[in-house]
Amino acid sequence: MQNFEFYAPARIVFGRDTQKQIGPLLAPRAKKVLLHYGGGSIKKSGLYDAVTASLRDAGVAFAELGGVRPNPRLSLVHEGIALCKREGVDLILAVGGGSVIDSAKAIAMGVYYPGDVWEVYEEGKPVEEALPVATMLTIPAAGSESSGDTVITNEAKQMKLGYGSPALRPVLSIVNPELFFTLPESQLGYGVADMMSHVFERYFTNTTHTDLTDGLCEVTLKTLMKNALLAKADPKNYDAWAELGFAGTVAHNGLVGMGREQDWACHGMEHELSAIYDVAHGAGLAVLTPGWMRYVYKDNIPMFVQFAVNVMGVRGSYRDPEALVLEGIDRLSDFFKKMGLPQTLADLGIGGEQLELMAKKATWVAYGGEECPLGGFKKLRWQDVLNIYRSVR
Ligand code: NZQ
Ligand code: ZN
Repeated sequence: MQNFEFYAPARIVFGRDTQKQIGPLLAPRAKKVLLHYGGGSIKKSGLYDAVTASLRDAGVAFAELGGVRPNPRLSLVHEGIALCKREGVDLILAVGGGSVIDSAKAIAMGVYYPGDVWEVYEEGKPVEEALPVATMLTIPAAGSESSGDTVITNEAKQMKLGYGSPALRPVLSIVNPELFFTLPESQLGYGVADMMSHVFERYFTNTTHTDLTDGLCEVTLKTLMKNALLAKADPKNYDAWAELGFAGTVAHNGLVGMGREQDWACHGMEHELSAIYDVAHGAGLAVLTPGWMRYVYKDNIPMFVQFAVNVMGVRGSYRDPEALVLEGIDRLSDFFKKMGLPQTLADLGIGGEQLELMAKKATWVAYGGEECPLGGFKKLRWQDVLNIYRSVR
C-alpha cells in the first residue's frame, strides 16, 4: 500500500425530501447565491420551483444562470464569472448533474483567478481560492458532488480538460434519489458506465497489499450493476436509485483509491471523444473500457482474474487464467449492452478520420512538447491509444 492522505469534507445530506432543506442549510453561509442549472429538466420536474421557494423562505437572495450543456462549455463559465462579480455572489448552488456542478466549480475559481480561468485547466496553475460550491444532484454519474474535480470543454480549441483542487470540493451536497426518477433511460446507462469507470480507474493497479480498497471497489461495482438493472426495469424504484446515488459518491470521493496507484487512461481517452464529437462521457467510456481491458490485461493477469471472479462472477479453471479474464471482460460488455450502451465508436457516430489526432491530443504529442503517456496500470503512448481506438471502431 502507498502512503496517502484522505480528506473529503463535502457534507452529504441524503434522502427523500432533502431538497426542501436547501434554504435553511445555505442561509447561515450565504447572503446571495448563484443558482446554476442546465437545459431545463429542473423546470419540467418542478425542482426549480421547490429550490427557489426554499431559498426565498429562508431569506437567501439569488441570481440565476441556466443553460449548462452536457460537456459544459467555457463560454458559459465566462458569463457566470462576470455575473457573480456583478451581483456580489458569495456561494454557487449547482442544481443538476456533473456538467452543471463542474461549470459551477469553474465559475467559483474564475471569480478569484486573475487571468482567464482556462489557464488553470491547460497549464495546471494552482488554485487556492474559490467561492464555495453547494450542489443538488439530479443524476448519479460524475461524482462531482463530492470530488474536488471539474472538467470543462473549450469549444473554440476543441479541448476537454480536467482540473482538481481541494478548494473545489463542494461544501454541501443534497442527494435525493427521488430526483433521479425523471432521468431518461439513456442517462441511467451513461451514469452507470461513468460510476463504474471511476472505480475501474482506481481498481486496476499494480500496487499490492490493497485488500481493503480491493474489496470496497468490488462491492461498489456489484452494487452499481445490480441496482442499475433494477432502476432500468422500474425507474421509480427508490431503493435502487438510493444505492446508485450512494455508490456514485463513494466511487469518486477518493476513498476507494487510497493507497493505490491509479490509472485514468480511459478517462483521458474519452475526453478526446467528447471534445471533438460532443458525445456523452459515459457513452464514450462504455465503448473504450472493454477495449482498454483487452489491450492491457496481459500486464497483470492476476488483477484481471480477480476482477473476473470477484466482480463478474466467472467460474472456471485457474489453470487457464486468460480464459477467466476474457470471460470477465465479455460479461462486462454484455452488461453494458443490456443497459443499452453503445459498443463501438461507430455506434457513437465516430469514424476513423480523427483517431490519430485524438491519440496525439490525449498524450499531448499534438501540442508539440514532450509526450505524456496515459495511465498508471500500463503506460500508453500515442500509438497505444490509437491501437485502442482502432480496436473499438
Ligand atoms: O440539462 P438538463 O436539462 O438538466 O438535462 C440533463 C442533461 O441533458 C439531464 N438530466 C440531469 N438530471 C436529470 C436530467 N434529465 C431528467 N431528469 C433529471 N433528474 O441529463 C443530461 C446529462 O447531464 P450531465 O450533467 O452532463 O451528466 P453527468 O452527471 O453524467 O455529467 C457529465 C459530465 O461530468 C464530467 C464529464 O466529463 C461530463 O462533462 N465529469 C466530472 C467529474 C468530476 N467533476 O469529478 C468526474 C467524471 O469523470 C466526469 O468526467
Ligand atoms: Zn467520469
